[in-house]
Amino acid sequence: MPVDILVGTQWGDEGKGKLIDVLTRDTDMVVRFQGGNNAGHTVEIGSEKYVLHLVPSGIFRPGIPCIIGNGLVVDPISLMEEMQDLVKRGIDISAIELSDKCHLIFQSHKEADTMKEAAAEEGKKIGTTKRGIGPAYADKAYRTGIRGIELKNLAVLKELFCEQTEKYNKMFCEAGIEALDIDTEWARVQEAAEYLAPFVKDTVVSVNKAIKAGKNVLCEGAQGMLLDIDHGTYPFVTSSNTTTGGACTGAGIAPKHVSKVWGVMKAYTTRVGEGPFPTELLNEFGESLRKAGNEFGATTGRPRRCGWFDAVASNYSCMVNGVDNLAITKLDVLDNLTELCICTAYEVDGETVTDMPTDAETLNKVKPIYETMPGWQSSTAEVKSWADLPENARNYLDRIAELVEANIAIVSVGPKRAQTFMA
Ligand code: IMP
Repeated sequence: MPVDILVGTQWGDEGKGKLIDVLTRDTDMVVRFQGGNNAGHTVEIGSEKYVLHLVPSGIFRPGIPCIIGNGLVVDPISLMEEMQDLVKRGIDISAIELSDKCHLIFQSHKEADTMKEAAAEEGKKIGTTKRGIGPAYADKAYRTGIRGIELKNLAVLKELFCEQTEKYNKMFCEAGIEALDIDTEWARVQEAAEYLAPFVKDTVVSVNKAIKAGKNVLCEGAQGMLLDIDHGTYPFVTSSNTTTGGACTGAGIAPKHVSKVWGVMKAYTTRVGEGPFPTELLNEFGESLRKAGNEFGATTGRPRRCGWFDAVASNYSCMVNGVDNLAITKLDVLDNLTELCICTAYEVDGETVTDMPTDAETLNKVKPIYETMPGWQSSTAEVKSWADLPENARNYLDRIAELVEANIAIVSVGPKRAQTFMA
């Protein structure tokens, strides 16, 4: 069975871009299946650093088809700019395919996203990326969305675009917000549509033909399990299924083809945006972790909230995703610590629980119960094998694997391709 799925197991930013790039050594096709340009997947090759938002992270292996699947919401202007930027940097983008069933994001969705966030009272803001993700998925669910296929038919696209923008303009006027100039917006969309049209395909057919031919297909998740619209910390989540089930619907792959699930997991925990975060470190140490790990959003530049490894949330995540193999990232960020904490349970109203509570209110008040482990206080950045890791680092990783009930297969100790080894 040739399909592997790679997902983030925390609140995103686990280092999926790098892992996809590493795993594509043995892959024939990479497929993004959900989300949009809210994602920021960083890949460092030699002295070059790339941040991808919509283009799959397989793009740096020449000739590998890179599919932007039906489950995505795609801002055509942003995708065009990302592709043009890659071309300028000498990357071949001819293997990109854009699904004719993906949904399109326009300026009105971005304005609506910003408007909703601004109007929300304190405690109810989600802290979205303001990329229009939620409103575009809402249009999809309302059946008023505009799909990728329309990029190939400018007359129809224009009609649908004007109708949709007028609907949003009405809403903006009612809210006292300046309406969008439809002609100006259309001119930008038209340019992007003309650029993207040759890449639009029924990608479900491409993916299934590859599977039938026995090719290795790797599905690239964006965000992380705890941001999943069904399984995450609702309502402080994104608007798509970031979990493995989302790969089947978002790429058009039958579950019977899936062979392996890769879970990418940071050696500690981070979160961007609002919402519960039981192990968050709201102190100087949290600040120093942010500095050491350079924890600033690849898409918005926002500082990420940092905390200890949360085995309760991560175990839940591995269960829902059916993780076979874990890739642990950013182990090197913990190199200097004398002692590390792992959250093994939560205390809720005097009771100890090891199952993840469902509601944000409870999650906000849980008290993490920690187990401490000695640090290794030596650099792991040059380590090339499991055996060469300091003993305390191996013990820390072994304990994580035991708690989340999954097998550690890859360890990443820095941003470069070479700073990765099989465990
Ligand atoms: P949206 O996806 O822009 O609607 O944002 C919803 C929530 O998901 C916010 O808390 C964002 O910070 C978070 N989010 C969205 N995309 C990412 C990502 O790629 N990494 C980390 N957090 C993300």
